[in-house]
Amino acid sequence: MVCTQSTTGNLNLMNNPTHISQPFVFAVISGKGGVGKSMASINTASMLNKMGYKVAIIDADLGLANCATLFNEAVHNTVSRWINGDCILEDLPQDCSGITLVTGANSPEENKFDTSIFMDALDQVAEYLKQDHDFIIIDTPAGIGEMGLWALDAAGASILVLVDEPAAISDVYRLCKYVFNIDPEYRFASIVNFAESEETAESTFKRFNTILNYFLKKQTAYFGFIPSSESVRKAVAKQHTLLQANPGHEILTEFEFISQNIIAYANNQEELVTKTVH
Ligand SMILES: Nc1ncnc2c1ncn2[C@@H]1O[C@H](COP(=O)(O)OP(=O)(O)OP(=O)(O)O)[C@@H](O)[C@H]1O
Ligand SMILES: [Mg+2]
Repeated sequence: MVCTQSTTGNLNLMNNPTHISQPFVFAVISGKGGVGKSMASINTASMLNKMGYKVAIIDADLGLANCATLFNEAVHNTVSRWINGDCILEDLPQDCSGITLVTGANSPEENKFDTSIFMDALDQVAEYLKQDHDFIIIDTPAGIGEMGLWALDAAGASILVLVDEPAAISDVYRLCKYVFNIDPEYRFASIVNFAESEETAESTFKRFNTILNYFLKKQTAYFGFIPSSESVRKAVAKQHTLLQANPGHEILTEFEFISQNIIAYANNQEELVTKTVH
């Protein structure tokens, strides 16, 4: 069942605002494919890492995993190989430029086990990673398949990747409706990708939230936007994070805002860094 995870800590956040009270797991999800989930996952991971946090990514796109490729790394071991008895749990994490990556299954042939076995194994992976990471990002396949549901359940909150297309918005709306039916308190935040400008991003987010509010009486928090950018596209093509490809790029400030909002959310802070869009 989809559930929320308490992130209430016991540390005085006023004295140490960037401390993460306990490991925060969040899923990056969308209704439609190709909207930039993996791009957002690796770049947010690298920004959080630059800010001093220990970050892990679980690539839950079983069979079509591509986070390792985006880091220009070959996959070493996979959860599938672990289930098969070909490696041990401790062999799964691989270092990708300071970020820990665990890949579920690297090819469709590897994705041969019962989903429930995979889910159980991924639960154990998440628990294992929580021991020494501040953030665990779950990169999901598009839509609301079984792995998407696993990710929503394993995460304390999920980030919806919105793009300004009617089909994409209606897919995300249906995804949210499905989840809110199971867990009305589920915590969603939104980022807008492929945005033409900050204004259009905010208007896309506002439109989406208006629909959610009108039909479901629900809202999502606004975490920021990523512009449609040739530099982002080129960094992906070169298999680099934007920080690696172009460390001074202005778009990194957007990833910084997104990361700061994730940190605030992880610590259950009411006030997000970016302004709430009305
Ligand atoms: N802001 C952006 N500007 C330019 N290109 C982008 C941007 N975001 C993503 N892309 C490009 O869009 C393509 C899809 O991105 P990505 O693989 O991250 O999507 P996805 O949602 O993970 O896809 P899937 O649903 O297949 O897993 C990539 O080629 C990437 O370079
Ligand atoms: Mg992807």
